[in-house]
Amino acid sequence: MSDSGSLRQRLTYWLFGPLILIVAAGTFVSYRIAFSAASRAYDAALLDPALAIASHIRRNGSQIELDLPSIAIDALRIDTEDRVYYQVLGPREELIAGTPQLPAPPGRLESDEHMFYDAMLYGEWVRVAARAVAVGQDTVIVQVAETLVKRDKLVLELLIASTLPQLLIAFVAVALFWFGIGRGLAPLDRLREEIAARSPRDLRPVAEHGKPREVKPLVSALNRLLARLNAAIESQQRFIANAAHQLRTPLAGLKTHAELARRQPSTVELRSLLDMISGETERTSHLINQLLTLARAEPGETASGGPVNLHDLIGRDVREWVRRAVSKNIDLGFELQDAWTVGEPLLLRELFANLLDNAIAYTQAGGSVTVRTWESGSDTVLEIEDNGPGIPEAERDRVFERFYRIAANGGEGCGLGLSIVAEIAERHGGGIVLTTPAAGNGTLVRANFPRLDSGFAHAPTRARAG
Ligand SMILES: Nc1ncnc2c1ncn2[C@@H]1O[C@H](COP(=O)(O)OP(=O)(O)OP(=O)(O)O)[C@@H](O)[C@H]1O
Ligand SMILES: [Mg+2]
Repeated sequence: MSDSGSLRQRLTYWLFGPLILIVAAGTFVSYRIAFSAASRAYDAALLDPALAIASHIRRNGSQIELDLPSIAIDALRIDTEDRVYYQVLGPREELIAGTPQLPAPPGRLESDEHMFYDAMLYGEWVRVAARAVAVGQDTVIVQVAETLVKRDKLVLELLIASTLPQLLIAFVAVALFWFGIGRGLAPLDRLREEIAARSPRDLRPVAEHGKPREVKPLVSALNRLLARLNAAIESQQRFIANAAHQLRTPLAGLKTHAELARRQPSTVELRSLLDMISGETERTSHLINQLLTLARAEPGETASGGPVNLHDLIGRDVREWVRRAVSKNIDLGFELQDAWTVGEPLLLRELFANLLDNAIAYTQAGGSVTVRTWESGSDTVLEIEDNGPGIPEAERDRVFERFYRIAANGGEGCGLGLSIVAEIAERHGGGIVLTTPAAGNGTLVRANFPRLDSGFAHAPTRARAG
């Protein structure tokens, strides 16, 4: 048996094999007992006609003869199921009466002794009772034989009577065992479901309470593994966060010094070099900010937070965004309705900032961007639509990968924005969908969150700037 496969199957095989052996052994023993019981009963009955015939053997001068009318012999031979034969042999084994084909007994018999044996007659097995009778000085052998029909029948009946219950018990045992194992393994099934239902980010220990003793070691081993994994992830995140923090200070210094250097009188070459240093410093500090946000958005400590209205959250930064849109000559519109969900405002703000940053960054000057929030059914929705270059369908999964960028769309990002967005959405039990707007060009990003069902009525905000 392979080492994989069903535990239930294996256990059942383990029960089934020995059971078959036990039933087979039981059947063999039953057969022996039934056979010897049937033989003893019918042998005793077979001796009676032999004795009856023996009592009618006479000596007539030098002749020995059977003094019994054939009608009486026929009466002795009557049997409903078996054929009965008889034979009388003289002292020199000469036939005196009966069936000549019946063989002589296999051993010597003294007078008044008898024996039973099996023989072949007319091509079938017969059971023979042989009786020695003294007639004067001589010993005559009387044999009565019968076929085995009723003996076989009785043996078969006895065998069935004893084996059938055994088989039935074996079958019921296997069936009970099969279902019993199913019931017994149910906790394992539940454990499997419990683990399968988890999100890959959920590294909390599995509850050991209520698990059977046999499953507990498995659960606690799993929990130890989860704890180690958790610790490893946390330390990695801490490392990224620390490294990003450490980098911030020197970068800020670098930025200030580059700015200062640019204000000094210098050659044109030097100025353009300083411009480049300044731009690169800018991008590096953006990268570090993104890395820090990603480290914060990743799982680790469990998500906390309270009710958040995306309408208010976004409303707070409208002025800043409009300023950026205007500087790029982009028509930025807001269509905000109440949109309540539960979450961490700082992270949700990062999510929104990254999406809107993309829309403004990748949409050409003169384009338009619209931000919408609303509630529908059990969902709270944030939507950002632009009429920029769009994200080709083939790239829509890949843009969520870290550091993945579409070179053709330009821009100066580091490729972390959408991974941050996906992490934050996932952490809030939400999802992100990328599509093309109804107009046929551009990008439509929709973020769905579980809706919180207790909002205050707000008048919808509609505004357009740019
Ligand atoms: N609204 C959009 N329109 C067109 N292309 C987009 C849009 N949003 C994202 N993209 C494409 O998807 C890529 C990945 O976006 P993502 O926000 O993850 O990274 P990034 O903007 O390049 O860098 P970061 O946001 O970390 O500064 C971008 O490089 C861009 O090509
Ligand atoms: Mg981006």
